[in-house]
Amino acid sequence: MNRPQPRTRHHLPKRTVSIIGTGSYVPEKILTNAELEKLVDTSDEWIVTRTGIRERRIAAEGETTSDMAAKAAIAALENSGVGAEEIDLILVATVTPDMFFPSTACFVQTKIGAKKAACFDVSAACSGFLYALEVAQQFITSHTYNTILVIGADKLSSIVDWKDRNTCVLFGDGAGAAVLRHRGGGHGVVATHMGSNGDLAEILHIPGGGCKSPLTAENLGQSLNTIQMNGKETYKQAVTAMLGAANSVLEQSGLGFDDLACIIPHQANLRIIEAIASRMNLPMDRFMVNLDRFGNTSAAAVAIALDEAHRTGRMQVGDYVLLVVFGGGLTWASSIIHW
Ligand code: UT7
Repeated sequence: MNRPQPRTRHHLPKRTVSIIGTGSYVPEKILTNAELEKLVDTSDEWIVTRTGIRERRIAAEGETTSDMAAKAAIAALENSGVGAEEIDLILVATVTPDMFFPSTACFVQTKIGAKKAACFDVSAACSGFLYALEVAQQFITSHTYNTILVIGADKLSSIVDWKDRNTCVLFGDGAGAAVLRHRGGGHGVVATHMGSNGDLAEILHIPGGGCKSPLTAENLGQSLNTIQMNGKETYKQAVTAMLGAANSVLEQSGLGFDDLACIIPHQANLRIIEAIASRMNLPMDRFMVNLDRFGNTSAAAVAIALDEAHRTGRMQVGDYVLLVVFGGGLTWASSIIHW
């Protein structure tokens, strides 16, 4: 007997995914290099020449990752013209959740009133926003969901050792968000790539506070709950991984470096971005850089830069835009978007 096939979403043709709106939020408080000179043995000259960072934003007392994420989300919803009640899924990429659980995404849901959304967090350190974008893409391509809010948010000031000059000058707080939907007309994500290398987890990590080394009264003084980084090794790995990730999406899409109107990289160190630009043989003005004002905000960094690039008209309809990131894990990811 011939039974009719059920018309499930699996029978629908795959569809493309576009960013239809962006938003971002950074706290009001500015921490300058001059102020850091009073905290640790450093200088404005060292920080600027070694990193390009001039100042960073620090969350107010009691201001959480979900507070910042919700503000970025509201800005992205306004920018896209989408209502909170239309969101099917909220993904928050963060390594500084408000709590171990519930997820920060659940707190954002309540703060913005996205009642029908499913919510969860994505953990991929500084690469988290692009990992979350890729997860969202799969849900939309497969017709599982129509409207997804992707947020990168981190309050690194809460996990920095303010006595360690190797790390405390690098980081800041903030959040960036994007609303994703199928738009059609050839717009959307063209190619994506994600990679990880757990063998090098220890060059950039927070050793304590999880189940492996819970914080106790005895070990609290050892700063186990703060970022530990082998800066030189991380730097080398970042350049290699981001170039590899960029090449992968260019190969998949059949595009060349010259076809890219704008490149939005992770904002960790200006020298890393310059090294990538020189190996791509591209001028620095093709790269979106705002780390001088915000430092490294982890998962938020590329999301805040994307929003700034969007709002300042750095990319026009029809442009190809490359997003490329790197972070603890190690993790890295890239995405080419036909804007
Ligand atoms: O977001 C995740 C990815 N993160 C990254 O991509 C970060 C990658 N790494 C970096 O950006 C760089 O390695 C840093 C900015 C962290 C460090 O720059 P560097 O050129 O690799 O410096 P270094 O660590 O080799 O340190 C050089 C010197 C050392 O002194 P000695 O041993 O040469 O006497 C450090 O102790 O600079 C010293 N130093 C500082 N001096 C003044 C380290 N931090 C500071 C500081 N101020 N804040």
